[in-house]
Amino acid sequence: MAALRMLWTGLVLLGLLGFLQTPAQGHESVHPNFQQDKFLGRWYSAGLASNSSWFREKKAVISMCKTVIAPSTDGGLNLTSTFLRKNQCETKIMLLQPIGLPGHYKYNSPHWGSVHTILVMETNYNEYALLFSRGTKGPGQDFRMATLYSRSATPKDKLKKKFISFSKSMGLTEEDIVFLPQPDKCIQE
Ligand SMILES: *[C@@H]1O[C@H](CO)[C@@H](O)[C@H](O)[C@H]1NC(C)=O
Ligand SMILES: *[C@@H]1O[C@H](CO)[C@@H](O)[C@H](O)[C@H]1NC(C)=O
Repeated sequence: MAALRMLWTGLVLLGLLGFLQTPAQGHESVHPNFQQDKFLGRWYSAGLASNSSWFREKKAVISMCKTVIAPSTDGGLNLTSTFLRKNQCETKIMLLQPIGLPGHYKYNSPHWGSVHTILVMETNYNEYALLFSRGTKGPGQDFRMATLYSRSATPKDKLKKKFISFSKSMGLTEEDIVFLPQPDKCIQE
């Protein structure tokens, strides 16, 4: 269970995720002409939506984290996330590898030996990004997850509404969605 919790901490940090068994395909199309260089910098994980049973249990206690995205040497992304845990600020680094198409990334979990796929579905770069992934948190337990990345730790209502309709368009329901509270420390703007 500790291992599962650790994995989920990672998922929440990233903002989202899934171990995809098959490459991204079908109706999910990423942001057209996605420009990775404009996606870099600081983001706040302002909203999350997932149908995973773990997330349903824990969503009330998850708080916002700050993620700084930098390019990595392989053309992918280096995510440095800061979050509050047991009343202390912790930092975690995750490396996302490019998988050929702009806005498509994967993350290899050394702990689980699993592969997670992350898609940037929509962004205007200077205000918000909508991300999506699909996968399983364990054998036979598929889940999907949507994330709202916001440049500001206090996203506007308009942005929250956008995230709600995005989540629904990705097959999630109103009760799967949570807007994360800002902790007092760790994520100063
Ligand atoms: C990722 O970024 C962090 C913070 O800047 C840095 O310390 C670390 O070396 C980077 N890792 C890689 C593999 O680029
Ligand atoms: C989440 O949604 C996916 C895709 O619709 C489904 O396959 C999966 O069973 C759902 N997972 C849970 C835990 O409800």
